[in-house]
Amino acid sequence: MADEKKIILTGDRPTGALHLGHYVGSLKKRKEMLDSGKYTAFIMIADIQALTDNAEDPEKIRENILEVALDYLGAGLSPERCSFFVQSHIPALYELPMYFANLVTMARLERNPTVKAEIAARNFEKSLPVGFMTYPISQAADITAFKAHYVPVGADQLPMLEQTREIVHSFNRIYKTDVLVEPEAVLPDDETSYRLVGTDGNAKMSKSLGNCIYLKDDPDTIREKVMNMFTDPNHLRVSDPGETDGNPVFLYLDAFGGPELFSAHCTAYASLGELKAHYRRGGLGDVFVKKLLNEIMQDVLRPIRERRLQYEADKEGVLGLLKAGTESAREQSDRTLAEVREAIGLNYFTDKGFSNAYITRGGAGGDTPNSTK
Ligand code: TRP
Repeated sequence: MADEKKIILTGDRPTGALHLGHYVGSLKKRKEMLDSGKYTAFIMIADIQALTDNAEDPEKIRENILEVALDYLGAGLSPERCSFFVQSHIPALYELPMYFANLVTMARLERNPTVKAEIAARNFEKSLPVGFMTYPISQAADITAFKAHYVPVGADQLPMLEQTREIVHSFNRIYKTDVLVEPEAVLPDDETSYRLVGTDGNAKMSKSLGNCIYLKDDPDTIREKVMNMFTDPNHLRVSDPGETDGNPVFLYLDAFGGPELFSAHCTAYASLGELKAHYRRGGLGDVFVKKLLNEIMQDVLRPIRERRLQYEADKEGVLGLLKAGTESAREQSDRTLAEVREAIGLNYFTDKGFSNAYITRGGAGGDTPNSTK
């Protein structure tokens, strides 16, 4: 290939607007990687995967296609540095899973901890759609169709990457090829961001729990959500000693603060460490800390919201970006698909080896697909 750049593939299900958990968990890292100019990147709106648990509600998916695209653009993922595309318009992503499904056992799928947790959260225990159970196979297709080296995702996606690597390994071994590339996850730099807690202290920020701050929230909404955040429930009076570990307000300061932002908004303390120490000693009120967090959060979200609003004024243009990105994603993935078919030996009409073995020389027992290349 002429293009020596390493490849990035990642994406999100279009089931709701993106929130701070998405931002620190992956969008920030994606932006950093794109801005470096070192990669060829494909960013996918995973509408087929969204259907695996929303088959009766396609309207939910339709209404979130542009929303997610706007969140990407708002978060600073530059359309000049990546192709944004929609999963449902890429034929390889339907075909590859059929081949991969033969390389994966049911037992292996059942062990996937992310899928297990999602089954429980959706009450799918009794009646589990086949498409949902097998979505890790489809996700392996998403990644390998682009021969992605890097997949910047939240930590909850690690089991999907593991599964993908196993499929790549089996495929390449069985079909004696190296067409598929083993991908690597790229996680955030700090562990607080691996899984951002909700504003209510729940272990996960999630739309269904109603504990999100969205990238598109306006300043008043952000302030209200921050001021209502859960903190240490035993910190009743200002004078009481408080807990900072696992306290959502401090976890957010860890994830968003950064030394510059912190000192820009807080002159009373030399560092976040000192602020925490005071809270733990007692004598520091929640309102002080929340006001600080609000100011920092406003600084983080303002440029994202403003950029988003600019794109929102030209939704037609955004749809055009998706369309163009989808075309280039299709080209790229069609090339992989052709190589995959050839590796398995499904290329009867174009393969010289096939005619040699079964037509010219007549009869079976000739070349195998893998020995004729
Ligand atoms: N499973 C991801 C999510 O829940 C979305 C996704 C689908 C994805 N295909 C992918 C992420 C491929 C990374 C790579 O948001």
